[in-house]
Amino acid sequence: MSNDGVNAGRRRFLVAATSVVGAAGAVGAAVPFVGSWFPSAKAKAAGAPVKVNVSKIEPGQQMIAEWRGQPVFIVRRTPEILGNLKKIEGQLSDPTSKNSTQPTYVDPETRSIKPEVLLLIGICTHLGCSPTFRPEVAPADLGKDWVGGYFCPCHGSHYDLAGRVYKSQPAPLNLPVPPHSYETDDIIVVGVDTEKA
Ligand code: FES
Repeated sequence: MSNDGVNAGRRRFLVAATSVVGAAGAVGAAVPFVGSWFPSAKAKAAGAPVKVNVSKIEPGQQMIAEWRGQPVFIVRRTPEILGNLKKIEGQLSDPTSKNSTQPTYVDPETRSIKPEVLLLIGICTHLGCSPTFRPEVAPADLGKDWVGGYFCPCHGSHYDLAGRVYKSQPAPLNLPVPPHSYETDDIIVVGVDTEKA
């Protein structure tokens, strides 16, 4: 009888102990997960990689992430947008990005790993303003030849939807493409270079 009592007590203890370990394990698992998605301000300033889920970006639309205190424009390009990139090459200052900053593993014309997903550092190469996303075709203020791109409100530089600057603009260079890689189809890691990963 006394054994039963001991065993029953031990079973209760084991159940309780397992629950505590289970709870601790869950907390332990949650912290690194959240930490990897939301790096601390200090880590971000130091250049920690940032993971971005791009699954919710609608075709033709942009989301803005942040890496190293800089805006990162992420655009889901449509076949129409990609087709227009080719048509306007003659109007661009550096259509194959020979003089611009981008990783060697992105296509020099579409400037991306996957054609449909573009990443750019959103800082104008003239004097550092943040260009405005203007994906519309032929809006009244930008003219009938505008096929979508970026307009810098500070001194009027125009870029296309690959971040390539048009000719005769104040901005001298294309918008930079940050180092990045795909963890899954929808998760991009900004700041982790596939060449060094
Ligand atoms: S800062 Fe963009 S055009 Fe001058």
